[in-house]
Amino acid sequence: MVPSAQAACSRRAVISRAAVTEKPVTTNGTTARAKPGVPEGTPIVTPQNLPSRPRRNRRSETFRSGIRENWLSPAHFILPIFVHEGSSNEPIASMPGINRLAYGKNVVDHVAEARSLGVNQVVIFPKTPDHLKTPSAQEAFNPNGLSQRTIRLLKDAFPDVEIYTDVALDPYNSDGHDGIVRDDGVILNDETVEYLCRQAVSQAEAGADCVSPSDMMDGRVGAIRRALDREGHTHVSIMSYTAKYASAFYGPFRDALASAPKAGQAHRRIPPNKKEYQMDPANYREALREAAADEAEGADIMMVKPGMPYLDVVRSLRDNTSLPISVYHVSGEYAMLKAAAERGWLNEKDAALEALMCFRRAGADLILTYYSVEAAKWLAGEK
Ligand code: PBG
Repeated sequence: MVPSAQAACSRRAVISRAAVTEKPVTTNGTTARAKPGVPEGTPIVTPQNLPSRPRRNRRSETFRSGIRENWLSPAHFILPIFVHEGSSNEPIASMPGINRLAYGKNVVDHVAEARSLGVNQVVIFPKTPDHLKTPSAQEAFNPNGLSQRTIRLLKDAFPDVEIYTDVALDPYNSDGHDGIVRDDGVILNDETVEYLCRQAVSQAEAGADCVSPSDMMDGRVGAIRRALDREGHTHVSIMSYTAKYASAFYGPFRDALASAPKAGQAHRRIPPNKKEYQMDPANYREALREAAADEAEGADIMMVKPGMPYLDVVRSLRDNTSLPISVYHVSGEYAMLKAAAERGWLNEKDAALEALMCFRRAGADLILTYYSVEAAKWLAGEK
């Protein structure tokens, strides 16, 4: 029964009279707690007659954490690492705190640190020396390429770390596209897929646990699955970049790898962007079409990329497949948080952990983030 306003007011009157005495006494004779004061000028009102007050369930951190719907753990993070052939680490200007790691000990040390914090999954991005880049990008499947060597190095050092790879031609392509560019500017689909298959097989041979096609060519997931199986890699999984958008938020990543599309020449048109294969940021339903294809072709994990502006797509995939979902918190999103934090405009730790939690709320199981190491430290309670 809801008490009448009259009753509520008179009960309050009893308590407030009691509050002025030293030891407040309630009507049944027990000692009541003193009523906290209110600022002068606070209006005196009749309590709203509310059957439901959601704030009751937010009253304390203990209670909030008891009923929290989602949680964040380093187990959810996949750490992207940039590797180069140099002898020392090179800072990436547009990604403060992130380096191109020198192949060798520096890579091993970085992953050892991540691992000590509970981050046991990494994805490798090699910066190919310019002289090895060609229009057909065959360095992508060199068994001794930088990517393949890095996989072997890490797998030998840490057999328990899950090694993800990137499958796409852009880091190896002198034209800067994920696929092979024909002279009239068309990005070839099926020819590219042939090389993506060789690339994926070479990565599996080097010891990769999961290959991740990020190229957005049609049919690549099925073709890679068949190629892996044919070569005996039935245990190697595929994380497909299912809904990868033609986004401006990849800018810092392309700086890191010098992999942006190059200028065309008189006799060769090179598309200035990736809109002919990556998805249109305006499209939502189209992600379901990509998801259906990837699922039918044998993907093990489906990814949405970028992250923060695309949470609706994460939720959509979550609700429309039983496969695990990953999300890529991309370089530009990282750069925005870092830039605002450097200016003192955001509390970096709170904003970054909030962004990561929101990926979980939207339905992501796994999060690829440049914040992996820092966030794991924050979660462990380090400053
Ligand atoms: C390569 C690839 C890109 C990213 C991941 N894999 C760049 C692109 O598609 O141009 C972007 C990652 C990021 O911005 O952090 N195909």
